[in-house]
Amino acid sequence: MKKLLAGLIGLGLIFSISANAVPKNQKEIERQIVKIAKKYGCLTCHDIDKPKNSIPYRVIAKEYQGKPDAVKKLVTSIKYASFAKWQKIGPAKYGIKPRAIYMPRQRSIPVEEAEKIVKLILSLDTSKVKVKK
Ligand code: HEC
Repeated sequence: MKKLLAGLIGLGLIFSISANAVPKNQKEIERQIVKIAKKYGCLTCHDIDKPKNSIPYRVIAKEYQGKPDAVKKLVTSIKYASFAKWQKIGPAKYGIKPRAIYMPRQRSIPVEEAEKIVKLILSLDTSKVKVKK
């Protein structure tokens, strides 16, 4: 019982540390996203707000915020490639028309960094993202 309790407290600690890892300030969130994205070449295809070759991070955030397993799903897309998911989601409802439909698996980004950028992306303020009905 003691062990179990210690384990639970430990888990709680880990959870609170990782939850605290995402800053509250939006400018700081954006700065950290760009820093990681630059380091691993994501900026070739993504921007926070501009539709480059693909979906802007803020739109990805709007689509996945509050969905179960969002972090796991997005990390899997980054690490193991993503094909035509957004064809199904229908980016037109966000007023965008992406040029590419396939993201190759991103080999250079370690899983922990992928998790970090996904959590940051999901913390973007999406209150101004317009969705067409
Ligand atoms: C060669 C262009 C390209 C690069 C480089 C790229 N992406 Fe993508 N990304 C795409 C495309 C295209 C999609 C949409 C794929 C789809 O519709 O399934 C996408 C989708 C995503 C999604 C949403 C996945 C989903 O399941 O909805 C995330 C998150 C993402 N990219 C993050 C990243 C990160 C982080 C990096 C850098 C490590 C990166 N991308 C590098 C083209 C790229």
